[in-house]
Amino acid sequence: MKQPQTIHFRDYQQSDFTITSCLLEFIIDNGSTRVDNVMTIVRQNLNAKEIHLDGEMMDLELLWLNDVLLNEEMYRREEDGIVIPLDADTAQIRVITRIYPDENTALEGLYRSGGIWCTQNEPEGFRRITYFIDRPDVMCTFTTKIIANKAMCPIVLGNGNLVGTATLENGKHLAIWDDPIPKPSYLFALVAGDLGSIHDVFITMSGKKVDLAIYCDRGNEEKCHHAMRSLKKSMAWDEETYGREYDLDVYNIVAVDSFNMGAMENKGLNIFNSHYVLADETSATDGDFMGIESVIAHEYFHNWTGNRITCRNWFELTLKEGLTVFRDQCFSADMNSRLNQRIDDVKSLRERQFVEDAGPTAHPIKPQQFIEINNFYTATVYEKGAEVIRMLHTLLGEDKFRRAMDMYFDHFDGKAVGTEEFLWAMQTQSPIDLTQFKRWYSQERTPTLKISSHYDEVGQRLTLKIVQSIPKDTHGREQLPYAFPFGIGLVDGYGSDMILKSPNAMLLHEGVLWIENGVSELIFEEITMAPRLSLNRNFSAPVKIECAQIDYPFLMAHDTDGFNRYEASHVYAIETLESMMRGEAINPLFIEAFGVILNDASLEMMFKAQLLTLPSINTMMQRQEILDVEAVHTSLEVLKKHLAHTYKEILIREISAIYEPKNSAIDALSMGRRALSNRCLGLLMSLESDPISMMCLNRYRESVNMSSRLAALDLLEIYAPHLAVEALNDFYHQHRDQTLLMNKYFSLLASSYRGGVLERVKELQADEVYDNKVPNLVRALIGSFARNPVAFYDESGKGFAFVADKVIEIDGFNPQIASGLVGAFKNYGRLTIDQKTKMGIELERIKNHPNLSNNVREIVEKILAV
Ligand code: PHE
Ligand code: ZN
Repeated sequence: MKQPQTIHFRDYQQSDFTITSCLLEFIIDNGSTRVDNVMTIVRQNLNAKEIHLDGEMMDLELLWLNDVLLNEEMYRREEDGIVIPLDADTAQIRVITRIYPDENTALEGLYRSGGIWCTQNEPEGFRRITYFIDRPDVMCTFTTKIIANKAMCPIVLGNGNLVGTATLENGKHLAIWDDPIPKPSYLFALVAGDLGSIHDVFITMSGKKVDLAIYCDRGNEEKCHHAMRSLKKSMAWDEETYGREYDLDVYNIVAVDSFNMGAMENKGLNIFNSHYVLADETSATDGDFMGIESVIAHEYFHNWTGNRITCRNWFELTLKEGLTVFRDQCFSADMNSRLNQRIDDVKSLRERQFVEDAGPTAHPIKPQQFIEINNFYTATVYEKGAEVIRMLHTLLGEDKFRRAMDMYFDHFDGKAVGTEEFLWAMQTQSPIDLTQFKRWYSQERTPTLKISSHYDEVGQRLTLKIVQSIPKDTHGREQLPYAFPFGIGLVDGYGSDMILKSPNAMLLHEGVLWIENGVSELIFEEITMAPRLSLNRNFSAPVKIECAQIDYPFLMAHDTDGFNRYEASHVYAIETLESMMRGEAINPLFIEAFGVILNDASLEMMFKAQLLTLPSINTMMQRQEILDVEAVHTSLEVLKKHLAHTYKEILIREISAIYEPKNSAIDALSMGRRALSNRCLGLLMSLESDPISMMCLNRYRESVNMSSRLAALDLLEIYAPHLAVEALNDFYHQHRDQTLLMNKYFSLLASSYRGGVLERVKELQADEVYDNKVPNLVRALIGSFARNPVAFYDESGKGFAFVADKVIEIDGFNPQIASGLVGAFKNYGRLTIDQKTKMGIELERIKNHPNLSNNVREIVEKILAV
């Protein structure tokens, strides 16, 4: 293991040498692969007298400097690479390495997934393939020659365009791929194997033909069509929205089963977790289809925001990730529903990023230091990063934002840059100086806006007081107030927005203020009646709001801002649950407001389903100082039952009116119907009544659509265990050879709120379908368990011990997956003394394990430091 070493942004320096071209030859074989690499080196720092090449986990066989074969005295080996004396402005280095993809369980560098050879090089995997200056500001052209057995690997793919193929002796063949566009090594990719594929073409706006292909395990070809459609839509959208065209002649996507993350934007050769490619109506849920569309788009959009303009160093990760998430969110909004997309994006921000930002691993979207960069592919860098871009979009408005993006592309195409360059481009179009806004990049934790209002009836004036409550950072240091766009509505008694006229507020455009002061007292004039406040409309800034003067039922029914209708229902439910947890009776006004929504036939169904969704246990836990999962869970179940009891007839009627067992189309209406009907069924099932349970079982049996079947199965598991046994069995035997469906099966069982989950999860590890070397399966079984608050926080502490065992075990072969899992302990600082002691023992046990990876160590130490 490498010694843990903290790397600081402030220490960043340009590389002494760069590489301008890289010619690679791979000879792929069972057992090992030989890599021959010829690099053209150029000196950038004239004082440099030696060159460091990164490299790890491989055998160095031969090394030449120019034409001189170097023996071991002529260069130095270091823990993380080699150092060669070099005092020249240009040079050629050739290095031959041998690597062992079959033994590569970390899934970084070249590895095997199933029978397929594939690569993952972001952020620092390329140094496991060959010696290189493995950093994103070293960009060069790559030519890749791949030699492999033709029967075993009829398909051999590289970045860029295919320039030649040949059949060789001994059943081998070769292909040469050339990528003319300079790129950093993290975007290098190679695939070899026996794969099926589907093909299509896209004609770009300038009339260029691009060959598109998606590769997958043979037999899965028919499940790639949704991904292909999504790709073509993404290509068209980027042309229409940003004027950005694709630049190579081919675009290949490969689906593999073993992948640490979702997908990877390698130039012209994306490699995807098969979860984000394969889908058909009988095997994928509506959420899966949406997820595929958005991840395909995300990786495609990286071609401009990430590949052509890349990051100068890994501290700048949000430059490409925040921006690309923002772009994929806008794309999904355009393809589907703007409103439902926004609600889902904010939900996931709050459930993942707000939690992270409140805990021991909080960091700014642009971190200042790290030990293991792999630990920074976080909800903060991605999702909060996207919110920060969205605020700029709100500030500038559509047209100026587009102009600023054009500036960004025009100025920095082909370069490795940072968020400062991006903000420079934004500043050229911004009416406001962005200096204070930049705090969003350097500060951590979520600010709270404490808001109160006073209405002066005589003067017809409303005073709105907004106080920014800024938490200290993880080191206890004070942080400063933010500048942000703030959407608001002052709503009259009929639900209409009053015109905002203010002598002292800065109005960006109708309904959107610009706030920069720690305390603002904003005056609104000609307000003819006491208005209802609708705050942070469309979630214009990633903040929390505290305001005691919100009329939730009114906003739920009448707000012109759809997001805030959702928000009102969400916050009202939270407050209702919290009052129940304080021992108060269920608020009848909430029940009534819920009924108004339920009875509103005019609501779009997906949106209605959103309004009728009660907060998750995790949402409620975020608001507790000391966690009490049991209290949350109990009050949620009581509230559900009460709602189901009160509205039983309507719910049954609603379900039978919209339920379509034989419809599996994925248009908005069909998906909305399913979401709403599953939502209603969820409430009803909490009654644990036999006829309803039978109805649920029938839905499992009759539905042709996977969303409906899984929803039913899940509800049976929780509320009707006697009926679940048969259905689960049926599901297992029907789908055991489809790994994506087995992920769902494991995840459903590990997420159950019933007793005995830990025992079942332990047993399921021995299931012949389960394999802890496959990240999706680990996430489905172990990850779901760790995210199941009822099971994980069980008072015995056995949940903690089990997850700790798994972290240690998995860290032995895949540190990235292990460090993802160890995040489960993030609430260490918020437990009862008894629970904290139990968790502390497990955390210490992990920390003291010999040969612990830096990935896990960095996270565990942060958690233990609270
Ligand atoms: N760059 C990938 C994305 O966001 C994520 C990723 C990071 C994948 C590291 C693999 C490894 O699209
Ligand atoms: Zn990305």
